[in-house]
Amino acid sequence: MAKFDFSQRDSFSSKIGIIAAAAGSAIGLGNIWRFPYVAGQNGGAAFLIIYLLFVIAIGIPVMLSEFTIGRRGQRNPYGAFKKLRPGQPWCLIGIMGIAAAFFVLAFYSTIAGWTLEYLYRSVSNGFSGKSPSELTEMFSDFQQGGLMPVIWQIVFMFLTAWIVYRGVRKGIEKYAKILMPIFLVLILVICIRSITLPGAGEGLNFLFKPDFSKITPNVILEALGQALFSLSIGMGTLITYGSYISKKDKLPNTAYSVAAADTFVTVLAGIAIFPAVFAFGINPAEGEALVFITLPGIFQQMAGGYFWSLFFFMLLVIAALTSTISILEVVVAFFSEELGISRKRATVVATAIITIIGIFCTLSQGPMENMKIFGQSMFSLLEYTSVNLLLPLGGFFIVIFVGWVLGKRNVKDELSNKGVLKARFINLFMVIVRVIAPVAIAIIFLNQLGLLKF
Ligand code: ALA
Repeated sequence: MAKFDFSQRDSFSSKIGIIAAAAGSAIGLGNIWRFPYVAGQNGGAAFLIIYLLFVIAIGIPVMLSEFTIGRRGQRNPYGAFKKLRPGQPWCLIGIMGIAAAFFVLAFYSTIAGWTLEYLYRSVSNGFSGKSPSELTEMFSDFQQGGLMPVIWQIVFMFLTAWIVYRGVRKGIEKYAKILMPIFLVLILVICIRSITLPGAGEGLNFLFKPDFSKITPNVILEALGQALFSLSIGMGTLITYGSYISKKDKLPNTAYSVAAADTFVTVLAGIAIFPAVFAFGINPAEGEALVFITLPGIFQQMAGGYFWSLFFFMLLVIAALTSTISILEVVVAFFSEELGISRKRATVVATAIITIIGIFCTLSQGPMENMKIFGQSMFSLLEYTSVNLLLPLGGFFIVIFVGWVLGKRNVKDELSNKGVLKARFINLFMVIVRVIAPVAIAIIFLNQLGLLKF
């Protein structure tokens, strides 16, 4: 078998490029499509508060742990664990992350495909004059048709593959630096429009005024899953991107900036969407279709609706794309480094396998909706298995590895760039990764599985 030449390994070229790429990975459909619908179903503000606590107490430490493993290992997630602890089963955690990347990208590309259809309809003014019920019908006809969602999914995967194929510096970093600023401008513009709608206050109350009676164990698990998903944790992306960060760059600052940017966008997405949802009397617990059914209707009723709709779906496409490239990169890095095949071939093989699984996810939302596996559609099965099982499990073992296996001196070396930076937080960080984060994840997880009851 051919061997990968590690001396030729690609890497990021600049600090701003790292942040754009990693923030691009974190910020995605998770923030704009998933957060509003999950928060809408789980109590709004109370959910947001728990979510924020998880980002700080668990998300940032796990993110920093993933960067540490990646940069120290200089490999894909499987290779990094294998290199850091040869001959031990830790490489299975890397495999689990790669499996999560497969699953996530399969169902994620379904939604990403929808964003292209809706962008196309925005351009062609396809929502014009449609009532809310016509928009609902339009969405379900599109889903049930089966063919167009699959075609758009393939187009989206092709776009993703094209960028990944070009490499880390000339593909991922270059496009992240172009797309992320456009994204930020678009979301700010939409936020301003949304909060100036008459009746927006109710939406802001829903998002910011907590009703703690809404909190149940399930809401807590959903908030944990959402925080991990949104930060791209447990799916190998941060280990892989960490491996492309130069030894001179600062891992802690990168993690803080990425988590802050991701959280900021989540809040902005809430501010953009809930006031509009309430201003037009839509149920925030509408579910997965929330942004696809409700927002085109809302835009219809606004002055300049054509442009708002165009901006919004462009935003979704960009957000999805900078995330899908980071997830595909995990699998491509694994295939090329471990199987010794060229980047080009690895990209083609990974894209083909994921697209095929993804097509089943897409069809399970339409013509194949009656085909159930363990009582669930393929889409829901992959979404649930990855977000609520694989990501928390991955996060758990990653912090255990960094807290108990890698060695405090090695961790400190990595976080302080071998003593060049002050790492005053190291003791607190070790307490979090050794005890607080794993215990918190374990309690939430076991409680959800019914193995531990309060
Ligand atoms: N972190 C990515 C998102 O939020 C997967 O969309």
